[in-house]
Amino acid sequence: MKERSSFTSRIGFVLAAAGSAVGLGNMWRFPYLAAKYGGGAFLITYVLLAVTFGFTLMITEVAMGRRTRMSCIEAFGSLNRRFAPLGWLAALIPVIIAPYYCVIGGWVVKYFVEFVRGNGMAVSSDTYFGDFISMAGSGILENPLLWFVIFVLLTAVVVLLGVDTGVEKASSVMMPVLVLLSVGISVYCMTLPGAAEGLKYYLLPDFADFSLTTVLAAMGQLFYSMSLAMGIMITYGSYMKKEDDLESSVGQIEIFDTGIAFLAGLMIVPAVVAFNGGDASLIQGKAGPGLMFGVLPKVFESFPLGGAVGAMFFLLVFFAALTSSISLLETVVSILTDKMRLTRKKATILSTAGILILGIPSCLGYGPWGHITVLKMQFLDFFDFISNSVMMPIVAIGTCILVGHVVGSRYIEEEVESSGTFKRKKMYRIMIRYVAPVMLAAILAGEVLKYFG
Ligand code: PHE
Repeated sequence: MKERSSFTSRIGFVLAAAGSAVGLGNMWRFPYLAAKYGGGAFLITYVLLAVTFGFTLMITEVAMGRRTRMSCIEAFGSLNRRFAPLGWLAALIPVIIAPYYCVIGGWVVKYFVEFVRGNGMAVSSDTYFGDFISMAGSGILENPLLWFVIFVLLTAVVVLLGVDTGVEKASSVMMPVLVLLSVGISVYCMTLPGAAEGLKYYLLPDFADFSLTTVLAAMGQLFYSMSLAMGIMITYGSYMKKEDDLESSVGQIEIFDTGIAFLAGLMIVPAVVAFNGGDASLIQGKAGPGLMFGVLPKVFESFPLGGAVGAMFFLLVFFAALTSSISLLETVVSILTDKMRLTRKKATILSTAGILILGIPSCLGYGPWGHITVLKMQFLDFFDFISNSVMMPIVAIGTCILVGHVVGSRYIEEEVESSGTFKRKKMYRIMIRYVAPVMLAAILAGEVLKYFG
C-alpha cells in the first residue's frame, strides 16, 4: 500500500490546522459578536469555552484521524460500522461549504485587487457591493464569476501540490504573514483618533445583558471557527506524525484561532466606532458580508493611508479564506483518494470541477437567479444554513456519542498519551460524554429555532 502523505513537522501541522480554523468567521463574525454581547463578557466566555468545549471536540477529531490514518468516511466506519453513515454525512459538509466559501473568497480577491489598484474610494460607495454581487456592473472585472474561478484555481493549485509541498508550505508562508498583518493593522486601528471609545466597548466586560444567549452565541461561533465536524481535523490528524505531542498541538491551534479572532476585533471594533463618531451601534448591527464589504471599506477610506490599510486588510482576509478553502478541498481530495483510489491529481481535478459547478448557483443567486429561493433563502445562505446550523451540530453530537459511549473515550486518550501526557484527561472524559453533546444539542436547537423565529 502507498504510504500516507504527511506533514513534515509538528509546526507544519499546527500552521495548516490553524490555517483552516482562522477564516472568514474570525474576521467578520467574532468582532461583531463581541461588540454585541457585552465586550469582555463575551471574550471571557469564549476563552473558557475554547479551552474546554472546543478543546474536547478538536482533540477528538485530530486523535481519531491520527489513530485510524484514514479520511473521515472510513475513520467513522472503522470505529464502529453502524457509524459509517455519520462519516458520509460529515464528508458531505465540505462538499456543500467549499463552493460557496470560494464564491466569498472571490469577492475578497476582487476587493484586494481594487484596493491595490487605488480604487478603494470607488468600492466604498454605498451601492458598489450590491451592484457587484448582483452582477449589475459591466465588464469582465465586475463579474463575480471570474473572481470565484480565480479563487477556486488558487486553492486547487495548492492542493494539487500535495500535503507537504502544497498545504503545509502554503500555510507556513501565509500564516506568519497573516499574524504580522493582524498585529500591524490592529495597532494602526487602535491608535486612530476616537478609537478609545471602541476599545472600551470591545474590552470592558459588560455583564448587564449576560444570558444564555451569550453562551450560545459563543459556543456556535467557536464550533464553526475551529473547523469542526466536517472531517477536516480528522483528515489533518491523519497526516500528523505519530510522535508529535497531540495535546499541546491542539492547544496551539486554539491559541492561534482565538488570538487572530481577538486581533480582528481590535482592528474592526475601534475603527468602526471611531468612524461612527463614538457610536457602537454600527458594529453591533452588522456581521458578515455587509460588515466586510459594505462598512469596512468606507471606514478605511475615511482614515489617513486608508487605501493602503484597506489593501493590507483584504490581503489578510484573503490568506485567512484561502487556507480555509484549502482545508475544505484537501478533505474532499483525501476522501476520493482513499475511497475511490484515485491519484491526487485526478481527485483534485474532479473535485475542483465539482466546486466550480456547484458554486454557480451561489454566485448567481445574488444576481440573475435572485428569484429562486430554497426555504426562503438565496442559494448561498441556504448552503450556509444547512451545513453550519444543521448538519455540523448533528455530526458533532454523533461523534460525541460514538467516542463517549460506544467505543469509549479510552480510544482517544490512548492516542493522545502515545505521544505525551494528557493533562486535561479528566475534564475531557466528562466533556465528551455528558457536557459537549448537551451543548451541541443546544446549538442545534437554537439555530433551528432562529430559522423559525
Ligand atoms: N473555521 C473557518 C472560519 O472561522 C471557517 C471554515 C469553514 C473553515 C469551513 C473551513 C471550513 O471562518
